[in-house]
Amino acid sequence: MSTTTVPSDITNSRLAPAGKLRIEWADQHMPVLAQIRKRFAQEKPLSGLRISACLHVTCETANLMRTLQAGGAEVTLVASNPLSTQDDVAASLVDDYGISVFARRGEDNETYYDHLKSALDVHPHITMDDGADLVSMLHKDRTELIPELKGSTEETTTGVNRLRAMARDGALKMPVIAVNESETKHLFDNRYGTGQSTIDGIIRATNLLLAGKNLVVVGYGWCGKGVASRGKGLGANVIVVEINPVRAIEALMDGHRVHSMSEAAPIGDIFVTVTGNKHVIRKKHFNSMKDGAIVCNSGHFDVELDLPGLRELAREDREVRSFVQEFKLLDGRRINVLGEGRLINLAAAEGHPASVMDMSFANQALAAEILAKSTERMPNVVHRVPEDIDREVARLKLESMGATLEVLTPEQEKYINTWEEGT
Ligand SMILES: NC(=O)c1ccc[n+]([C@@H]2O[C@H](COP(=O)([O-])OP(=O)(O)OC[C@H]3O[C@@H](n4cnc5c(N)ncnc54)[C@H](O)[C@@H]3O)[C@@H](O)[C@H]2O)c1
Repeated sequence: MSTTTVPSDITNSRLAPAGKLRIEWADQHMPVLAQIRKRFAQEKPLSGLRISACLHVTCETANLMRTLQAGGAEVTLVASNPLSTQDDVAASLVDDYGISVFARRGEDNETYYDHLKSALDVHPHITMDDGADLVSMLHKDRTELIPELKGSTEETTTGVNRLRAMARDGALKMPVIAVNESETKHLFDNRYGTGQSTIDGIIRATNLLLAGKNLVVVGYGWCGKGVASRGKGLGANVIVVEINPVRAIEALMDGHRVHSMSEAAPIGDIFVTVTGNKHVIRKKHFNSMKDGAIVCNSGHFDVELDLPGLRELAREDREVRSFVQEFKLLDGRRINVLGEGRLINLAAAEGHPASVMDMSFANQALAAEILAKSTERMPNVVHRVPEDIDREVARLKLESMGATLEVLTPEQEKYINTWEEGT
C-alpha cells in the first residue's frame, strides 16, 4: 500500500524507503509476531476497532502496528519519548503502510503532548502505553473518552508501577493489561534487551573502551542485571548500587561489588541509572565524581539524574560529541551527560534488538486481542497477561530458535502431582 492521506505529523516523508528497509530487517527477526500477524489477517479479531499506541517509534514497533492493522484495527501511533523516534520508520509507516503517526525525533514537550492529544482525538477503543502517558492524560483531561474504551495495555515497569498506584488509590477508571509482567517480556526484554542496547548506546555515544573501567549500575532489577552482565562481559569492573538488600546480595553473588551511591560516586568512570526512581544521582554525588566521569540513564523517565542540580553546579556546558554534553564544574572537573539523561539505548542506539521485542510485542498483540474480545468490560484493575499466553509465546519463540522442549512421561506427570511417593 502507498498512501500519504492518513493524518500524520512526521519529520520527513522522503525518509520512508530507508525506514521500510529497516522495518523489513526487524521483521525477519520477529517470527512469533509474524505468525500472529498471519492469524490476525485471517481472523480479523480487531475489526472495527481504533487502537492508539504511545510507544517508542522504532522498526520493531512498526511491525507491531502492522500486526494490529492486519487484525482489522485502525491504528494511530505517537512517541512515548521525545528522543526515541526513528524518523525513517515514522515516514514509512505513513507512506508505505497507511498508518497514522504523530512523532518527530527531538520534539519539544509541547509537541510531545500535542501528539498524545492527537492519539486520543480519534476516540480509541484500546490504548497502548509505554510509561502510562495516555492513561494518565485520559484520567486528567479526557475523562469523557473513558467509557468508550475497552481498556489499555502497558509495556514498561515504570508504567505498571504508576497504574498500580492509581488502582490502589481507587483512581483507575479502566482495565489495563500489564504486558511488562509477562515472563516472556521482562525476563528477556528488560534483561537482555536493555542490557545489550544500553551498552550499545554508551559505546555509540562515546566510543570508549569498557574493559578496565569502573561501571556503576544503579538499580539491580531486570534491566540493571542485564546492563551489569553485559558490562562485565566487556571487561568492566561492575559496581552495583541498590536499596533492596535481596537484590544487593544477588549482585554480590553475581560477582559484582556493592556500594552506596556516595561510595560509588568518586570511583566510577561510567554511571548508568536503571531504577525507575527520581534523582538517584544528585548534586552531592556529582560533586564527588572524577574529572571526565560519564553519566547516563536507561530508566523510563529522564528524572533519574538530577540534571537541574548538575546545572547549578556547573559554570558552563557544551556539546562535545553527538549525545554527549560536557558540564564543567566550578573547580574545573568535567562531567559528561549522555543523551540528555533520557533512555540512552533509544537516544544514542536503536533500542532493543528485534529478537526480544518479538516476545514483548507478541504479548502486546495478544493482550489487545483479549481486550477486543471482551464482551463485558473487564474490571478497572491492572491485569496480567494469562499464563497460557505467556507459555505459548515462549513455545513459539523456542521453536523459531530451533530448540526442542523435553516432554514429561506419564510416570513423571503422576510423580510430580502426587504426595504419597517418598523415599
Ligand atoms: N531502557 C529501556 O529500553 C527500558 C526497558 C525496560 C524497562 N525500562 C525502565 O527501566 C527502569 C527499571 O526497570 P526494571 O524492570 O529493571 O525495574 P525493577 O523494579 O525490576 O528494578 C528497579 C531496581 O531499582 C532499585 N532502586 C530503586 N530506587 C533506587 C535507588 N535510589 N538507588 C538504587 N537502586 C534503586 C529497586 O530496588 C529495584 O531493584 C524502569 O523505569 C523501566 O520502566 C527501560
